[in-house]
Amino acid sequence: MGTKRHFRVWRGDESGGEIQDYDVEVNEGEVVLDIIHRIQATQSPDLACRWNCKAGKCGSCSMEINGMPKLGCMTRMSTFEANETVTITPLRTFPVIRDLVTDVSFNYEKARETPAFAPPAGVKPGQYRMQQVDVERSQEFRKCIECYLCQNTCHVVRDHEENKPEFSGPRFFIRAAELDMHPLDARTDRKEFAQASMGLGYCNITKCCTEVCPEHIKITDNGIIPMKERVVDRRYDPLVWLGRKIFRRDQLESGHAGEMTPSVTAGVTGVAAGLGPSGARPPQGPPLGPDGRMEVSELIASNAGGPSPFGDDQEFPLPGSELTYRHPAPGKDAAPPSSH
Ligand code: SF4
Ligand code: SF4
Ligand code: FES
Repeated sequence: MGTKRHFRVWRGDESGGEIQDYDVEVNEGEVVLDIIHRIQATQSPDLACRWNCKAGKCGSCSMEINGMPKLGCMTRMSTFEANETVTITPLRTFPVIRDLVTDVSFNYEKARETPAFAPPAGVKPGQYRMQQVDVERSQEFRKCIECYLCQNTCHVVRDHEENKPEFSGPRFFIRAAELDMHPLDARTDRKEFAQASMGLGYCNITKCCTEVCPEHIKITDNGIIPMKERVVDRRYDPLVWLGRKIFRRDQLESGHAGEMTPSVTAGVTGVAAGLGPSGARPPQGPPLGPDGRMEVSELIASNAGGPSPFGDDQEFPLPGSELTYRHPAPGKDAAPPSSH
């Protein structure tokens, strides 16, 4: 026989809502998703909640539990005090559809904008070979279950709708990092693309994303920071420094520097484009802002994608008409709860 415990669950839709109180039986070994199912079975059959595997593997049951982004199916009731009220609210960063279900299509849009694996020329699928050490290096990032808890947590977009168009978020930074360290990936500008077109410069390595990742992926330490370091390495490359001494910026911008002018790689311009057409390194790095960081505005480029490994009929990026993400209506922030 279980004990009665107090729960508060956010109910509503995009037009608004409120917290509703429930007293629910809790049994030994249960998780928060069990409680939601019991509420559906005994009190509110119309309570909306997304879930699939109940095993921490599908990434569907993301929610905020007592203000912390978590998986409902992996949050044991035994982690709360016996008399503690448990408050369950939808992910705050994405528009609410109904109750605990949010529209996470922002993430699908960012996934489409992230260039896919570029197959090496002349090697057919099935002939790919790589060292075990290279497999292991990126294995950590492949554990991602796309729960988007990291995306929901990142302060760059959590309270800043205006940053969403430019910022892909931690989930896609580790995708870029994984491909950057892939020995067979034919695309050589992954980190530059992340800096220029995915908003890597917005990240100030607070590590909040790492804290909430249910797969314990070291998003910041193993993905974002090394990629940032490699971007900065290029800026402080002695050849880059020498180039800056030789060519004035106005010469570079007007193209008088000949082959030393930064090249344009698909989707990336300026220093982010990597090697120049002759193989010489671009001589001009982006200026640093007063805070010592690169100015993101220096690195704006169109979000062109790479070739699809699935064939020529799939274009990247997809046309806007095929993207389902819509920014929430003004005033959306008032709808979902911020703290309870
Ligand atoms: S480390 Fe970067 S990506 Fe992760 S939550 Fe902080 S700002 Fe966002
Ligand atoms: S990196 Fe971790 S938190 Fe982010 S989507 Fe993947 S599994 Fe979820
Ligand atoms: S239901 Fe699949 S991760 Fe929770």
